[in-house]
Amino acid sequence: MKKKEIFIVGGGGHAKVIYGSLMRTGKWRVVGYTDVKDTGLADMEYLGSDGRMSDLVKKIKYAVVGVGQIKSCGSRRRLYLMLKEIGFSLPVIISESAVVLQKVTLGEGTYAGENSYIGSNASIGIMCIVNTGAVVEHDCRISDFAHISISSSLAGTVSVGNGTMIGMGACVLNGVRVGNEVIVSAGTVVRKDVPDKSLVSGNPARVQINRYAE
Ligand SMILES: CC(C)(COP(=O)(O)OP(=O)(O)OC[C@H]1O[C@@H](n2cnc3c(N)ncnc32)[C@H](O)[C@@H]1OP(=O)(O)O)[C@@H](O)C(=O)NCCC(=O)NCCS
Repeated sequence: MKKKEIFIVGGGGHAKVIYGSLMRTGKWRVVGYTDVKDTGLADMEYLGSDGRMSDLVKKIKYAVVGVGQIKSCGSRRRLYLMLKEIGFSLPVIISESAVVLQKVTLGEGTYAGENSYIGSNASIGIMCIVNTGAVVEHDCRISDFAHISISSSLAGTVSVGNGTMIGMGACVLNGVRVGNEVIVSAGTVVRKDVPDKSLVSGNPARVQINRYAE
């Protein structure tokens, strides 16, 4: 099978993760990465900064955003809009060791990381990150630009709002609704619904409203 050519936007930690997954699938030839400076990412070719993208689109059809997300999805949203406007396609990337069960929908530009699990009938929006070892159980509803971080777990029928980050190792109990632009700190146990734009931490989760509202 002929490999498709793709480049990575960003040269930091998340880009490294994406690069590893792309290589393992054997389906992609990663042409290089863009960033404000050469970060030496995985000995790949540095393609220049964002300004180069209008040239790149003449040669490369596919792009993937390799910029991560902790406190805000602002950078990922901005990059998505820019890449779409220039004319790139943003494929769904499912890692080799990810498990994606039946009737799952994954939006444009979404990444399912190594050893992640997405249960049946879950729906995941555009530009989401289901990171390494994360569990998104059956019937979950994940909105656009959400990040389900490393080894976090969402039980069945959980909903996660737009731009929300579920931190490493956090767990969200069945049916809980986590609002838009929420930050769930690493290791938090979320038992009750969480309002928009709040930060929650601890076990049981303590809610701090508008902590990081943009
Ligand atoms: C929530 C988070 C973003 C806050 O980071 P920060 O802005 O540097 O904030 P601070 O460390 O000053 O913490 C803010 C408050 O939340 C509390 N807090 C932060 N993280 C916490 C955690 N995991 N558990 C319990 N409380 C936590 C702090 O005690 C502090 O409370 P205070 O204001 O009453 O003192 C960060 O702690 C976190 O959990 N990041 C997620 C990391 C992650 O999942 N990475 C995955 C990469 S793929």
